[in-house]
Amino acid sequence: MSEDKYTAQTITWLHTWVPGKLFSLRCTRDPGFRFVAGQFARLGVRPQGSEEIVWRAYSMVSAPYDEHLEFFSIVVDGGQFTSTLEHLRPGDTLYVDKTAYGFLTTDRFAQDVPATRSLWMLSSGTGLAPFLSILADLPVWESFGPLVLVHSVRTREELAYADQIAALAQHPVIGEYLQADPTRLHYVPVVTREALPGVLSQRITTLLDNGELERAVGLPLDPARACVMLCGNPEMVTDLRQRVQDRGFRAPRRGNPGNLAVENYW
Ligand SMILES: Cc1cc2nc3c(=O)[nH]c(=O)nc-3n(C[C@H](O)[C@H](O)[C@H](O)COP(=O)(O)OP(=O)(O)OC[C@H]3O[C@@H](n4cnc5c(N)ncnc54)[C@H](O)[C@@H]3O)c2cc1C
Ligand SMILES: NC(=O)c1ccc[n+]([C@@H]2O[C@H](COP(=O)([O-])OP(=O)(O)OC[C@H]3O[C@@H](n4cnc5c(N)ncnc54)[C@H](OP(=O)(O)O)[C@@H]3O)[C@@H](O)[C@H]2O)c1
Repeated sequence: MSEDKYTAQTITWLHTWVPGKLFSLRCTRDPGFRFVAGQFARLGVRPQGSEEIVWRAYSMVSAPYDEHLEFFSIVVDGGQFTSTLEHLRPGDTLYVDKTAYGFLTTDRFAQDVPATRSLWMLSSGTGLAPFLSILADLPVWESFGPLVLVHSVRTREELAYADQIAALAQHPVIGEYLQADPTRLHYVPVVTREALPGVLSQRITTLLDNGELERAVGLPLDPARACVMLCGNPEMVTDLRQRVQDRGFRAPRRGNPGNLAVENYW
């Protein structure tokens, strides 16, 4: 990538969720870097002793109005990018492509529909990231009714951001919506490889097939009254996309606004 296409930013904050597996970081943000909630950046790191910058796609966790950028990352054993990223510390440089990308955004859905429709955000692992940005953004609270966030992970410790989601009623920008109606947000953690009392333990695909997800949320997943966004493990995305398409959900196409948006992470 030529040098005029990216900026050098500085890491300002790190948080480890699961040592050696999951962490978040913040960096400074170039004032010219604009994005829509749900989009991703291309991040660059320079592995030690290398002249080349290695680039990877990363969804923004932070909201479009935040001064910083925040990202949520996996550590892949032997991964070219993450084995460098995980060792960066505050003060180190992170390169950020000047352009934001991606179509996992709610502005792709039909706008001329009642604001009572629900938005279902179904994620696995770090696929949670874009939904945190979307949830912190005002438009989603203004143009949807119930918001459903499902996060599927293998073990309880991987339920990153659960405390922040629980505290959204105190959020300075969108908190008032939850204070007015605490039932607007349905956060559904799913832990598939540990049995935890009161926590769903089957895959989201199974929970859709057996009706348990809709029962847990208390709402129907109905294309006439809902939009769906899927993000994370590509097999999960494929399997879920098939199921919601069978129910009548459609991705936007050729100018026809749809009610389904998906993003694969690998
Ligand atoms: C649009 C888009 C947005 C993305 N956003 C994020 C994000 O917000 N956070 C994030 O951690 N990653 C995200 N990724 C994945 C990211 O780009 C890299 O693949 C990841 O950082 C690993 O890089 P690597 O070079 O270490 O390993 P790679 O060589 O890129 O990947 C090696 C293998 O690791 C596994 N893998 C890669 N990424 C993940 C992941 N996120 N979770 C679980 N397994 C994975 C896959 O099996 C993959 O084949 C995104 C990818 C895309 C396409
Ligand atoms: N998490 C770990 O402790 C661990 C350890 C070693 C290596 N890794 C590697 O790290 C990578 C990412 O791991 P991860 O735990 O973040 O992601 P993951 O394997 O994508 O699992 C995240 C969640 O998605 C679910 N899922 C996976 N495929 C699905 C499908 N087709 N349909 C519905 N749900 C599906 C998983 O359920 P299931 O539990 O039923 O699969 C789990 O709840 C993988 O490549 C893995 O091999 C992870």
